Amino acid sequence: MRVLVVGNGGREHVLCWKIAQSSKVEKVFCAPGNAGIANVAECVNIPVSDLNGLADFASRENIDLTVVGPEAPLCDGIVDVFKARGMKVFGPDKASARLEGSKVFSKDFMRKYNIPTAWAETFTAEVPAIEFVNGRFDAGDKGIVIKADGLAAGKGVIVALNREDAVDGIKKCFGGAFGDAGKKILVEECLFGEEASILALTDGRTIMPLASSQDHKRVGDGDSGPNTGGMGAYSPAPVVTGDVMENVRINVLEPFLKGLKQEDLYFRGVLFVGVMVTDKGPKVLEFNVRFGDPEVQAVMMRLENDLVDVIEKIVDGRLDEVKLEWAKGASVCVVMASGGYPDDYEKGFEISGFEDAEREGAVVFHAGTSFKDGKIVNTGGRVLGVTAMGQDIRAAIDKAYRAVAKIHWQGGFYRKDIGHRALNR
Ligand code: AMP
Ligand code: GLY
Repeated sequence: MRVLVVGNGGREHVLCWKIAQSSKVEKVFCAPGNAGIANVAECVNIPVSDLNGLADFASRENIDLTVVGPEAPLCDGIVDVFKARGMKVFGPDKASARLEGSKVFSKDFMRKYNIPTAWAETFTAEVPAIEFVNGRFDAGDKGIVIKADGLAAGKGVIVALNREDAVDGIKKCFGGAFGDAGKKILVEECLFGEEASILALTDGRTIMPLASSQDHKRVGDGDSGPNTGGMGAYSPAPVVTGDVMENVRINVLEPFLKGLKQEDLYFRGVLFVGVMVTDKGPKVLEFNVRFGDPEVQAVMMRLENDLVDVIEKIVDGRLDEVKLEWAKGASVCVVMASGGYPDDYEKGFEISGFEDAEREGAVVFHAGTSFKDGKIVNTGGRVLGVTAMGQDIRAAIDKAYRAVAKIHWQGGFYRKDIGHRALNR
């Protein structure tokens, strides 16, 4: 088979790496890819926004299966374009991708299908939103969450633990900080507890959770500083006990599937459920319609199945025939980022130490790298995802950090405490 992966981050690197291991695969292409993906796939220079260009390429190159990584092309309708041309593609169509692309749509869906989540109110103007928030703090709320409605590259969420931050957040949204995405906002109940990520495969008939994982959203050790795309992940996440997973299956995944069927939504891909495990049980923070990054690095390291076989079954509507197998032990992915991230950062510095890092037994997935004059340089905020397996979480953490210590570039940094919640249990 000839497989095309769309995207250029750490998620797409691990997908290409895993797909290239399949006995069914003759060749993997990635559009546009990055310097690390080039080791396992042929990178083709087509941007993820060029849906027709990607479909032309797939048709010209006789691609048998296309796997879409990021949310933006899914929300733009890449699955609709490929399907209309009779080509096999893994992901939800444009209408279903609104589950991630519009937080208002997503919240309405959760309400309609009784999926446990934070309460929320929608606002399209600043003054009533501020009045509402003041009322909540007067009533004794300990926090409030402001969310821009549309896609805002993971930045459109403000968790405000006091009135001033909440009012600032509302002003920021309506002041245009998130562009059009902020013209409509959700003001939401602030949930307290421990977060986890549940990825689940679905073909619209069956829904099947993957191994649990946990991200580290804040940039700094001890969960300090601003939110990022994710600074590290591990799998499994001990907070997701058997009971929690069963609760999510019954109260989130099954109702989700019922909703897909009832709303006649086409979804043959992966649902990412961000959950907060509260003292009243797990509640949904958000739905995403693609693999989480860096969660997928940790999860794919443990998956023993042939990923192409699994994806083909999903696209063909035969997910019920799949039985997932997981390596025992644990996996950890430590993200290395450019100095300054998540704000402005400097790029173009040569990165060294890849071979030494891999000699420690880790796999180095690339997120924001490119070639410059034959050298590998940093070009993104999140640059590498150094990922390792171990017989337990401690062993996996130690192996990943031994590898991280071998890698250097000017300004590069990483969190030193990935996995701290699992260790503390
Ligand atoms: P989202 O983009 O919706 O995942 O939000 C990003 C992050 O904001 C989440 O991973 C949480 O850490 C936090 N967050 C979102 N919604 C809530 C909420 N209702 N209560 C507390 N934290 C939240
Ligand atoms: N790591 C969080 C995300 O992919 O959205």
